[in-house]
Amino acid sequence: MRRSCIISCGSYLPEGIMTNDDIAKIVETNDAWIQQRTGIKSRHIAAKDQMTSDMATRSARVCLEKAGLTGSDIDAVFLATTTPDQTFPATATTVQDNIGMGDRGFAFDIQAVCSGFIYALATADNFIKSGQINRALVIGAERFSSLLDWSDRTTCVLFGDGAGAVIVEADDTAKGSKDDRGIFSTHLHSDGAHRKLLCTDGGSSTTRTVGYVRMNGKEVFRAAVTRMGEAITEALDANGLQPSDVQWLVPHQANKRIIDSIAEKLHFPSERVIMTIAQHGNTSAASIPLALTVAVEDGRIQRGDLVLMNSMGGGFTWGSALVRW
Ligand SMILES: CC(C)(COP(=O)(O)OP(=O)(O)OC[C@H]1O[C@@H](n2cnc3c(N)ncnc32)[C@H](O)[C@@H]1OP(=O)(O)O)[C@@H](O)C(=O)NCCC(=O)NCCS
Repeated sequence: MRRSCIISCGSYLPEGIMTNDDIAKIVETNDAWIQQRTGIKSRHIAAKDQMTSDMATRSARVCLEKAGLTGSDIDAVFLATTTPDQTFPATATTVQDNIGMGDRGFAFDIQAVCSGFIYALATADNFIKSGQINRALVIGAERFSSLLDWSDRTTCVLFGDGAGAVIVEADDTAKGSKDDRGIFSTHLHSDGAHRKLLCTDGGSSTTRTVGYVRMNGKEVFRAAVTRMGEAITEALDANGLQPSDVQWLVPHQANKRIIDSIAEKLHFPSERVIMTIAQHGNTSAASIPLALTVAVEDGRIQRGDLVLMNSMGGGFTWGSALVRW
């Protein structure tokens, strides 16, 4: 049986750090409000000339180096982003060039906002399982600060920039058992009826600008708790597992209160939930691979652990990926 295994992960965060106190100099807000309502203390903000492809490439290189591989070992790049360098070509093709893949394989962007990484991982898994490719680079990279209206305190306090990547590789020795390494399942969902609750107010076919983030915070909060919770239950049910079978929950980092309420409802003790929101803010498609990398590098996620990732984002989009590390 063929499974897709995550063999390496890496990340990149821009040097610039913006604290809540820094934001309080721009809009009427304060550190206590932001921490209490979101769990965010600071976020990384890209330098003026730093593009999404730069951050994506840095995370990809870390990942390749850790795996002892080069660009010529990669068959495909799936880059989840809402903040491409340009409207076209796909930012993934810039990364393909930067890492020295030449004309090998193919590269494209995936747009599912904060669920982008789960969508990209599911895409890679299916390309691998179908036998079309053997090894993929899956990246979530965002320069989300470009989409922020720095006069809107209800959104500008929430987001940050960064990139995270994983390498996914075919393993043809899997037995089809619960002890296998690799991706056990992915589940993707969307419901466009809610697209106006979290969106930008511009785009190339409407205003011909990229626009700024607009959000109905309360509605999005409610939907995130419901949909991210459903994504967990769906993944566990599909694999005949209980929350206690899973070592690590790695949720999209949108708001500490969202994550806490899902974990409590579904009986995941907080010690088994990876939380990076305090230092990263919401980095959209980059948040899950950034959190994964933190937990792998600090030794929490170990080979053989079951890791459940879940997300929710604009569209709405939501989903999960269950992986034995
Ligand atoms: C945005 C969010 C943190 C707001 O928290 P909330 O508890 O719903 O807060 P409210 O919107 O009810 O606002 C409460 C008060 O704080 C004020 N407020 C809003 N933003 C503020 C800020 N940055 N600083 C200080 N006060 C603020 C509001 O104006 C409101 O004041 P009022 O009561 O006088 O009208 C929360 O709704 C949220 O996290 N939503 C989901 C966001 C998200 O995850 N998006 C991405 C999903 S991928």
